[in-house]
Amino acid sequence: MRAGVRRSRRRGNKGLRILLGAIVAVFAVILIAVGIKFAISGWSENAKEKEEEKNKVLVTGIEVACDRPVVRAGESIQLKVTVTPDNATDKTLVWTVSGDMGTVDEQGVFTPAVEAGKSDVEVTATSNDGTEVFGSVSIRVLEAIDPSKPMVAITYDDGPHKTNTPKILDILEENFAVATFFMVGQNIEGKEHILKRSYELGNELGSHTWDHANLSKSSNEKIKQQLDDTDAAIKAVVNIENPILRPPYGAFNNNVKEVCGKPIIMWSLDTLDWDTRSADATYLACMEAKDGDIILMHDIHEPTVVAQEDVIKGLQEKGFQLVTVTELYTYRMGDFGPGKASYKMTLDEYQSILALQSASSTTENITEEDATADSTEE
Ligand code: NI
Repeated sequence: MRAGVRRSRRRGNKGLRILLGAIVAVFAVILIAVGIKFAISGWSENAKEKEEEKNKVLVTGIEVACDRPVVRAGESIQLKVTVTPDNATDKTLVWTVSGDMGTVDEQGVFTPAVEAGKSDVEVTATSNDGTEVFGSVSIRVLEAIDPSKPMVAITYDDGPHKTNTPKILDILEENFAVATFFMVGQNIEGKEHILKRSYELGNELGSHTWDHANLSKSSNEKIKQQLDDTDAAIKAVVNIENPILRPPYGAFNNNVKEVCGKPIIMWSLDTLDWDTRSADATYLACMEAKDGDIILMHDIHEPTVVAQEDVIKGLQEKGFQLVTVTELYTYRMGDFGPGKASYKMTLDEYQSILALQSASSTTENITEEDATADSTEE
């Protein structure tokens, strides 16, 4: 009996074990199957990633450039960015500006911080694909113009000069000041690097005819030739369309105005530097400047160059913003365009001209007669 019971219990145990074994086996098969499936998909994903990684085109070079790397605080400037190779997988960039002095948007437009004025900032683009490739450009930031504060436009005629013009550029650069250079076209050859530097520092480049011709005594054909040749010589070096004109001797008439197609820029403060050839006299003349003045000097004379350090620092210390002629017009004169002549540029005079203009339309003739009578320039 006991043995029989034991036997039957044993037999019962065996059946249970077989059943459990079967269940375990089924589970094991399922687990293995699931495991294999995961292993296979994991492997294929990994392989896909590896394949993608293998096909990824990395950035090898970034170039950041700018047609004219100078901007006023408060304004913006377009940068040109070239990422190589052209088919790089990730061409996104991370922009940084030295001293945190500005921002660059997705279109590559650089906007300096307001407080960036009077500084040269380094703008850098770095690759975003882990390669850390970067390119950068140095940009000169000039102070924002405050229209409520006095400003003058310094102008230099008759250059460019091989040694004197660069010395003036040095002084302007050092003081974050800009001026306007009215150049004689035939003087440009061999001095292209001077023009380029001048332009990149933010100076304005204008025409003073091809060979210092008296336009008021020239035929229409000659006037056109004088101006076209000079424009072409400037355009061959820097990207300026239709530069402004200062007629030699300040001489122009109605015919010149009609033919030239340019703003005619006279002056309101003649330093007579060409006559005195004295650094002291030139400096003292400049210190008489009033808001809105266009100051006439010549960058070909050594004494004028000698005076410039004191002139530029002196004007700045007196609170004058040094601006280009076009900037001066933007803030002090509304009447600026082809065939329009102006030289009375102080704010008081401007306001009286405006009053005259509203009273009569003959104002232009008045200024023109004054201009032709004033032929003191060398
Ligand atoms: Ni001249």
